[in-house]
Amino acid sequence: MVKRYAVILAAGQGTRMKSKLYKVLHPVAGRPMVQHVIDQLESVQLDKMVTIVGFGADKVIEHIGEKSEFVIQEEQLGTGHAVMQAQELLKDKDGTTIVVCGDTPLITNETYTALFDHHEKSGAKATVLTAKALDPKGYGRVIRNDAGEVERIVEHKDANAQELLVNEINTGTYCFDNQALFSALQDVSNDNAQGEYYLPDVIEILRHKSEKVSGYVSPDFGETLGVNDRVALAQAEKIMKLRINERHMRAGVAIIDPDQTYIHPDVVIEQDVVIHPGTIITGKTTIKANAEIGPNTEISNCLIGEGSNIRQSVAKDSKIGDGVNIGPFAHIRPESEIGNEVKVGNFVEIKKTKIDHNSKVSHLSYMGDAHLGSNVNIGCGTITVNYDGKNKYLTTIEDDAFVGCNSNLIAPVTVGKGSYVAAGSTINKDVPEDALSIGRARQTNKEGYAKKLKNRK
Ligand code: UD1
Ligand code: CA
Repeated sequence: MVKRYAVILAAGQGTRMKSKLYKVLHPVAGRPMVQHVIDQLESVQLDKMVTIVGFGADKVIEHIGEKSEFVIQEEQLGTGHAVMQAQELLKDKDGTTIVVCGDTPLITNETYTALFDHHEKSGAKATVLTAKALDPKGYGRVIRNDAGEVERIVEHKDANAQELLVNEINTGTYCFDNQALFSALQDVSNDNAQGEYYLPDVIEILRHKSEKVSGYVSPDFGETLGVNDRVALAQAEKIMKLRINERHMRAGVAIIDPDQTYIHPDVVIEQDVVIHPGTIITGKTTIKANAEIGPNTEISNCLIGEGSNIRQSVAKDSKIGDGVNIGPFAHIRPESEIGNEVKVGNFVEIKKTKIDHNSKVSHLSYMGDAHLGSNVNIGCGTITVNYDGKNKYLTTIEDDAFVGCNSNLIAPVTVGKGSYVAAGSTINKDVPEDALSIGRARQTNKEGYAKKLKNRK
């Protein structure tokens, strides 16, 4: 078995992004571009992975972690110069080296594998992954001879009028015989429009040495999109989104409008879940069978139970049980745990709160730092007063309690099992089990007084 190595080019700043964030760290579907590249390469059997870093090296290394070795390219003198930086680690090795740009996040491991296989079968010293582009502007063009063999690659900025008409582009991904690569790199010059050491020049150098060079045409241009600016970044986002959505639909998830649904790569969704438009599901979220999510809902790092329904709402870092109804317009904040068959209605905010089976917080309430038992009913406009400006305190509402509308529960406080709190109460003492607690001023009616006020001169 031939040894396989990878060099990932990730040292550029990405001037065309017009951003303080280094180019390869711009996210596509919530994950830095270069991480997509590394993730896909990981499922190809590789003996060594070397990433070339420069601008933002610390940040890039932090994202990629131990999956790769790193070499710093102090000055960004071009893609050929970038690969040269890996020579200490690779130069003497026998085998195949794939070179990939950190700004082509959509290439799949299937394509990488197909390129390796094609290269190794053909016996070529270099194989370029090419694609047919509808609009080849900005890409290097693949120039073939009359026999259809790849002769060289010419950069857009160096191309003449005839070469600009070529629509077969260099995707920036190549397989090389490792030693042929490092020896040809010695001959690359920077005599071109950009004054850079171009990696694609290696192709022509190998041809001049009468070595075999091959081209492997990717069947899907979309996969090879290179992201140099924000317009391409949005195109990449769209392609990735549809790819992820298609995977879920094929696995039995109903996505009403795949163009309007954003699901990040780590999300797990079971069969017969229905997702309505305007929904964004991110992080390590799992959605169990038959749940219905959206429209216009944001869910991040949550477990959503079977058959639950979340509409027009936001939920983060929380666990939601089976058969739960949330929204419209509810906000489930981190560290909340919502039991089975619970109802959280409109304009309700839940923060760091556990709600047990079959309880209801149906309208206009805030439950923060609280534990609600089962079968609890929270009346409209109830507030847990959890914060004194310095510390947060706990509210406990035991099973079967019934809290009347517009009550303030001043924590720390416990509302006992089966008790009632009268509407409009401000509760600052524990309510005993089965008691009725009334904490409000007594009403007085002054007969005829309104009339008297009206008739005042
Ligand atoms: C490059 C190719 C072009 C191809 C296109 C595909 C060259 C000269 N041109 O052009 O033929 O069609 O990719 O998307 O290779 N980088 C470094 N160090 C450097 C320069 C670049 O690490 O000194 C990295 C960048 O961070 C980036 C990658 O190499 O991830 C490609 O560089 P970029 O400037 O984007 O090249 P393109 O102009 O897109
Ligand atoms: Ca690029």
